[in-house]
Amino acid sequence: MLDPLAAELNEAIGAANPHVFDMLSTKGKEIFFPSKGILAQTAEAKGKAINATIGVALEDCGAAMILPSLDALVKMKGYDVFAYAPNLGNPEIREAWKRLLLKKNPSLNKDGNCISTPVVTASLTHGLSAAGYLFIEEGDKIITPDLFWENYSLVFNYAYGSKFDTFPMFNGKGGFNTEALREKLISGPVGKRIVILNFPNNPTGYTVSAAEAETTRDIIIEAAEKGNNIVVLIDDAYFGLVFENDVIEESMFTYLVDAHERVLAVKVDGPTKEDYVWGLRIGFVTFACARGGSSLNQTMEAKLGGSIRSSVSSASRIGQAMLLRAYEADEYEAEKSEKFEILERRYKKIKEILEHRKEYAEYLHPLPFNSGYFMCLEVKCGKAEEVRRVLLDKYDTGVIALGNLLRVAFSSTPYGHLEKLFDNIYMAVSEVAGGG
Ligand SMILES: Cc1ncc(COP(=O)(O)O)c(C=O)c1O
Repeated sequence: MLDPLAAELNEAIGAANPHVFDMLSTKGKEIFFPSKGILAQTAEAKGKAINATIGVALEDCGAAMILPSLDALVKMKGYDVFAYAPNLGNPEIREAWKRLLLKKNPSLNKDGNCISTPVVTASLTHGLSAAGYLFIEEGDKIITPDLFWENYSLVFNYAYGSKFDTFPMFNGKGGFNTEALREKLISGPVGKRIVILNFPNNPTGYTVSAAEAETTRDIIIEAAEKGNNIVVLIDDAYFGLVFENDVIEESMFTYLVDAHERVLAVKVDGPTKEDYVWGLRIGFVTFACARGGSSLNQTMEAKLGGSIRSSVSSASRIGQAMLLRAYEADEYEAEKSEKFEILERRYKKIKEILEHRKEYAEYLHPLPFNSGYFMCLEVKCGKAEEVRRVLLDKYDTGVIALGNLLRVAFSSTPYGHLEKLFDNIYMAVSEVAGGG
């Protein structure tokens, strides 16, 4: 039986944009934010002389119970870090992240654009999963380039029963394979399509050029014009880390926010990689569609809130509190630039190494890269796992083997070790390929 609150949300979504209603999975249609349950009743009791609603513990004086040994560890007020955060996230951090989004993606400020207020999730992984809950039906196909973050398969396929429908990420000219994406989107019966786009990409470190981003948008619009309802999940985990001028600096989201009434853009992002806070476990999900406006956005936020409530209930409050302080700090931008420059310097060094060490080409082929934390080397003999083993056993060096690729995380390799790292890879691959 559909809960009346779910029915209410479904009706509002259907009225705002029936195509988006059709994009929802069965679970997505059934889920709702329990706006009349414990959370709502607690909100109504706020400020009452006697308030025995929510399950937090308060001292007899009314202050939050906090263990002094924990309180002593943080400079912020205990309540701000140890209390529950609202289910959709602290309103201040949601607004702060939105302001940052608009600043980092100036094209979003265009008249008529309507993006939702970012909802806080417990990391990007959780944001992807919470979005998957809303849209993925058992057996659905997810269109993605063949080089993607390994965990997508657990997050989407194992958890929700989808299957990947991959296309080769690069065309023969070293660019994003928009033609193959087109083929996937256009072919087959008209219906729902789910696409995932991740730039800067994990594992390749590739970001599309403006021309490729425009073509991607045009292809998605073309597929929508044919009657397909398209959910585009935009995983911006490595947003902002672009090291070349000829690639997009704004998110792919900016190209899709007002693309078509049958295209729902779902931006999943957060501070994990951008702000170097991997363990804080905070992420954000933001929606946009050409039709439905703020009414659609608010109902989609409530749907996502239901999915969050059903999994982690709410994200870490200390994480949100710390980030809010950082985003308000005068030094934030400068500190972030400093870290960017460290990564950019390593990126440039790798380009220089590959440029000079022509002999590498016998065994290794670097895939296009211009951004992010990683780059990939294709192992021409195909024995990437063997090369990885040799690197571990003989060269004291660790990289990741993925099929016939070696993924190199320059994000975690000191500048001074880069030459040695690539030399080690070259020696190991020479041994494996040459039978040494
Ligand atoms: C492409 C991509 N998306 C999402 C994530 C997960 O981010 P989080 O640690 O915030 O869950 C990663 C982490 O490696 C990633 O590479």
